[in-house]
Amino acid sequence: MNAATSPLPVVILISGRGSNLQSIIDAVASDELPVEIRAVISNRPEAAGLEQATQAGIPTAVIDHSQYSDRAAFDQALLACIERFQPGLVVLAGFMRILTAGFVHHYQGRMLNIHPSLLPAFPGMDTHRRALEAGCKQHGASIHFVTEAVDGGPVVLQAQVAVQQQDTAATLAARVLEQEHCMYPLAIRWFAEQRLRLDSTGQAVLDGKILTEPVLLTSQSGTTC
Ligand code: GRF
Repeated sequence: MNAATSPLPVVILISGRGSNLQSIIDAVASDELPVEIRAVISNRPEAAGLEQATQAGIPTAVIDHSQYSDRAAFDQALLACIERFQPGLVVLAGFMRILTAGFVHHYQGRMLNIHPSLLPAFPGMDTHRRALEAGCKQHGASIHFVTEAVDGGPVVLQAQVAVQQQDTAATLAARVLEQEHCMYPLAIRWFAEQRLRLDSTGQAVLDGKILTEPVLLTSQSGTTC
């Protein structure tokens, strides 16, 4: 395999269940995603996603945040662990830690996150409950480059989910998660194929055009998984 066709080395960070991780593993296994998952790293030893990675033959590591005196010490250890795998992209897939500025700068333009809301609406936790309480008609998920602003980096891709009258946070979360599993492999593929990047002014660029607004995942727009 020559350099042009080499799969992109990727490290995936998780904290828990790992369903987005599984969707990425599945996309790689079915040759839809030209990446090599070099490692899955969790900040929680009990994260279920670690077992899924092991099942798929992917190396795993745990950097347990509770063993570090502060955020900076944890991020330093995490960075050292990631660097052993030399990734071209770091994928946050349900990684529930706020990262320090130094860490974020190190991976500037090389780190993506998925967030379960239509950003900039509802950064942070409990997004589904908050969307219901706010009476939103549309909810969804976003993929963005990671910057220092928590859940605030340039959004690349969004999927919308219509809120139904009988929805609970759990039913809404389940429909949003379905979209997440479809959209994350797609955005990672764009990055791996060098169609997606962050430019020097901090704006997301897809196919040579600055994304003034995120791409919407719809069959009408031709953007489907
Ligand atoms: C997802 O909803 C993701 O958007 C958010 O955390 C959740 C992780 O779920 N950041 P999983 O661990 O991928 O199943």
